[in-house]
Amino acid sequence: MSYLYDIKKVAKIYGHGRAATVALKSVDLTIETGSLTAILGPSGSGKSTLLNILGALDSPTSGEVSFLAENISKYKSNALAKFRRENIGFVFQSYNLLPNLTALENVEFSTEITGLTRDKAKDALAVLGLSERMNHYPSELSGGEQQRVSIARAIAKQPKALLCDEPTGALDNETGIMALKILRNLNKDIGTSIILITHSKEIAKMADTVVKILSGEVVDRYDNPNPLNPDDIEW
Ligand SMILES: Nc1ncnc2c1ncn2[C@@H]1O[C@H](COP(=O)(O)OP(=O)(O)O)[C@@H](O)[C@H]1O
Ligand SMILES: [Mg+2]
Repeated sequence: MSYLYDIKKVAKIYGHGRAATVALKSVDLTIETGSLTAILGPSGSGKSTLLNILGALDSPTSGEVSFLAENISKYKSNALAKFRRENIGFVFQSYNLLPNLTALENVEFSTEITGLTRDKAKDALAVLGLSERMNHYPSELSGGEQQRVSIARAIAKQPKALLCDEPTGALDNETGIMALKILRNLNKDIGTSIILITHSKEIAKMADTVVKILSGEVVDRYDNPNPLNPDDIEW
């Protein structure tokens, strides 16, 4: 089976000349299909930059990115958008829900883009335990519920990869653990490959594989022989 991601010598430099910031130096990394992989590192280490490149929200300055053996590095913006739409789900710390749409409409909005039916949107909300809440607006939902809507939105199109950037960053520990359990179960039950960005060593313990990043470089990578149950995470 091919790797979910195989990236070679990926560098990202923001800006030019004296104002240039090297966010990623030369990252070589493979990520297994079907795994839950944590990318662990302190603030400013390049985690979001890496995730955005993996999700084709941004292009590397140099280097190669392959997704399931398809080299996406040379894609222009239209092809990248198509790739993203067909393959990737995103979950962000700030749920990024549209305030004037209900939970269902928020999920439908994303399925419309991918050409899926209203039923798929409802199914995704049901998986997240939100059937009773689907006609509520984001302002009528708790933070944990809003994050579940954003996860439902991401999974409704059954993406091959679910990319999560500090998904529990804005949640208290109880709702955060609930969100992590949902991610763990999606990975186990549906087989969705998940990449989870975190600055928390504790959260990284629930992952199958941990990739440590520091100052734009991968400094360590290891498998957890016994990934922690999210319930046992010390927040
Ligand atoms: N759009 C941008 N323009 C300029 N510098 C950026 C931009 N995005 C991130 N950076 C810089 O790149 C480095 C890595 O940032 P980031 O990937 O957001 O790290 P992390 O997600 O680990 O906190 C930081 O020094 C940050 O200030
Ligand atoms: Mg970040």
